[in-house]
Amino acid sequence: MTPPTGFEPPPYPYERLDGLKAVAAGHEGGLVDLSIGTPFDPPPPAVVEALGRSGAERGYPPSVGTVRYREAAAGWMARRLGVEVPPGDVAACVGTKEFVATAAQWLRLRSPGRDTVLYPAVSYPTYAMGATLAGCRAVPVADDLSGIAADDAERALCLWVNSPGNPTGALADLGAAAGWGRAHGVPVLSDECYAEFTWDGPPRTILEHGPDGVVAVHSLSKRSNLAGVRAGFYAGDAGLVRYLSEVRKHAGYMVPGPVQAAAAVALDDDVHVDEQRARYLDRLTFFRDVLAAEGATVALPGGSFYLWAEAPGGDFPEGRAWAFTRHLAERGGVLVAPGDLYGEADAAHVRVAVVAPRERLALVADRLAAAR
Ligand SMILES: Cc1ncc(COP(=O)(O)O)c(C=O)c1O
Repeated sequence: MTPPTGFEPPPYPYERLDGLKAVAAGHEGGLVDLSIGTPFDPPPPAVVEALGRSGAERGYPPSVGTVRYREAAAGWMARRLGVEVPPGDVAACVGTKEFVATAAQWLRLRSPGRDTVLYPAVSYPTYAMGATLAGCRAVPVADDLSGIAADDAERALCLWVNSPGNPTGALADLGAAAGWGRAHGVPVLSDECYAEFTWDGPPRTILEHGPDGVVAVHSLSKRSNLAGVRAGFYAGDAGLVRYLSEVRKHAGYMVPGPVQAAAAVALDDDVHVDEQRARYLDRLTFFRDVLAAEGATVALPGGSFYLWAEAPGGDFPEGRAWAFTRHLAERGGVLVAPGDLYGEADAAHVRVAVVAPRERLALVADRLAAAR
C-alpha cells in the first residue's frame, strides 16, 4: 500500500517541553508546573455532589443541552455579564476546546465557497488547528482588524477573538470585532473562557454589542475549576447557534447528563468564583515580582491567570524565550511555556500560569533566590 501523504498530526505543543519538565522535576520538592495551566484548586463541593445525584446516567442527554443547563447559562450571562440571552440561543459543548477545533468544519459545510479561518496572531493554538483539521487556511490577524486583506475577508468562514486572551492576558476590543464581522459578513466567534478573571474593569462579552453575527463561547473549566468534567456552551446569533447545534447533534456531541446537572449548579453560584479570583490575583502579584527579580519585564495582565513575561535579552542560540524557560526549570524547578507555543510571532516572551498554590510559588522564589 502506498504510504499516506496527507496531514500528519504535529507534536502536541506542550510535549515540546518534556525535556525541561524532567530537568525541573529533579529539584528536591519536585516540579512546579505553571506551563499548561490546568486548574489546581478544588471545584465547589455542591457541584461534585450534584454529579452523583442527577439520575441522568441512563438516558441520552440532549446534545443542545438540557433546559436547566441552558437556563443556568443564560442566568449566569445576565448576572455576571449584564446581557439578556434567550436560553433557546444557548447550546452546550463538551468543554470548549472541541468547539474551537471543529467550528471551522461545520461553518464550511454552511458556506462551502469559503475556506479561511482568521485568528489572533499570538493565541491559543486550537484556532489555527481547527482550520487545519477542516482542510482550511489559517490566517493570523493583528489586533488592528483594518489590516485584514480584502481577499482573506471574502474567504473567511469566521474570525476568532479571545478576550481576556491566552497567552497575553490582553483585553480585545470586542465591539470593533463585532463591527468588523458585520461589515464583512463574517461570523465572529468570541472565546471568553477567562471572562470572570478580568482585572481591568468588569467582565466583558461580545454580546454586549448585540447578537447579530456573533457567538460567545464560555467554559466551566476555568471559572469553576471543572476542566475534568468537560462543560461549556456557546450563545448569541440565533441562526448560527441553531445551525451549529443541529450539525453537532448529527455528529454526536453530547455533554453527559450528570455533567450538565452539575455544571448548572456551578453556573448558579458566584461565591466560589470570587474566591478563585482572589487566589489568582494574589498569585499573579506575587509571581510577577519573582519573574522581575530574574530579569523579566512583566506587568499584571488585563485579565486571565497568565503572566506574559518578556524574557531577559541576550544572545541565545535557542532563542530568548526557550533560554529563560530553561533558566527557570534549572534554577527554580518550575516549568513555564515559551511564547512560540502560541504562534511564531512571539519568541521573546514566556507564559506563566499561576495555577499552583501560593506555597509552591514561594518554593520557586526560594530556589531562584538561592541560585542567584
Ligand atoms: C483560550 C482558550 N480557549 C479554550 C480553552 C479550552 O478550554 P476547555 O476545553 O477546558 O473549555 C482554553 C484552555 O486552555 C483556552 O485557553
